[in-house]
Amino acid sequence: MSNRYPWLTIDPAGPFNLGPRTFPGRVWTASGCFGYGLLGDDISAPGRADPFAGIGTVVTKTITAAPRTGNPPPRVWATEFGALNSIGLENMGVERFCDEVVPRLVERGIPFVASIAGTRPEEFGTLTRRLVVAAAAAPCWHGVELNLSCPNVARGGVDFGRDPLTVRACVEAARGETGDRVVLAKLTPNVASIAELARAAGEGGAHGLTAVNTLVGMDIDLRTGRPVLPRRRGGYSGGAILPVALAKVDEIVQETGLPVVGVGGVRTADDAAKFFAVGASAVQVGTAQMDDPFAAADVARALAAQ
Ligand SMILES: Cc1cc2nc3c(=O)[nH]c(=O)nc-3n(C[C@H](O)[C@H](O)[C@H](O)COP(=O)(O)O)c2cc1C
Repeated sequence: MSNRYPWLTIDPAGPFNLGPRTFPGRVWTASGCFGYGLLGDDISAPGRADPFAGIGTVVTKTITAAPRTGNPPPRVWATEFGALNSIGLENMGVERFCDEVVPRLVERGIPFVASIAGTRPEEFGTLTRRLVVAAAAAPCWHGVELNLSCPNVARGGVDFGRDPLTVRACVEAARGETGDRVVLAKLTPNVASIAELARAAGEGGAHGLTAVNTLVGMDIDLRTGRPVLPRRRGGYSGGAILPVALAKVDEIVQETGLPVVGVGGVRTADDAAKFFAVGASAVQVGTAQMDDPFAAADVARALAAQ
């Protein structure tokens, strides 16, 4: 029972079940904001906790079948209330991830979920199969999170995540390969009805949804009158989007009842508690974790102390 949040019906600091897995904690790091989960190798600060202490899972940076170099700089731009990014899915590719990153995560026993993205629904199955080969023997590998906010080559470049039928097909492809691991579908907030996408993911067999990915945003450099990002628009994240993310999680929970991992603007234990109040099973810390790699661990510790 929490003193600060007496209405909470869950233990915010304890382990919990999601689909076929038991996760050690409800505060996770968000994909793309803590690298491949090995940053802790290089981080120490006097008086600060281990950056992994109390973290329920690290969601690793999205990987694709082939390595990607990403977009031209600048890729991240700080705005007054949040951050804009346009990384372009830079990543090392699934082969290097499986050969170099997975063994180190396993050796250190870091709980992780691998974020994956494909250019066709079937690719989500192929990537999952490769991960199963690399990590199925490791209890700290909990499953996959499907990053569906990327262009679908087969359908003229429209984001996978905006079309319910495609969302369902991607989830089905991954579910066909995962065995006893979790499949989470990460949804974009840039749609009229996120509940419709959540329902489609549930029909495809998703154990839960991760909501939300970044909002479409842009900023202008007043010295030039031009967009700050070379690709004009990017993904908006950070404290400013918390009310939007909360509303999207609330919509999914109210309309579908499916398990949700809430993400968007979490910086403190109070922010996390708001997601739990609307029914989220866990939360992820993204932009705050880039500002301070101890942020998620601090949120986990603060929740445990309430
Ligand atoms: C620099 C940066 C890189 C990101 N990369 C990814 C990514 O590779 N895959 C993904 O699913 N989401 C990615 N995201 C989105 C975050 O995981 C998260 O959904 C979003 O930023 C909202 O949470 P926040 O407000 O706590 O940052 C990225 C966000 C940022 C700021």
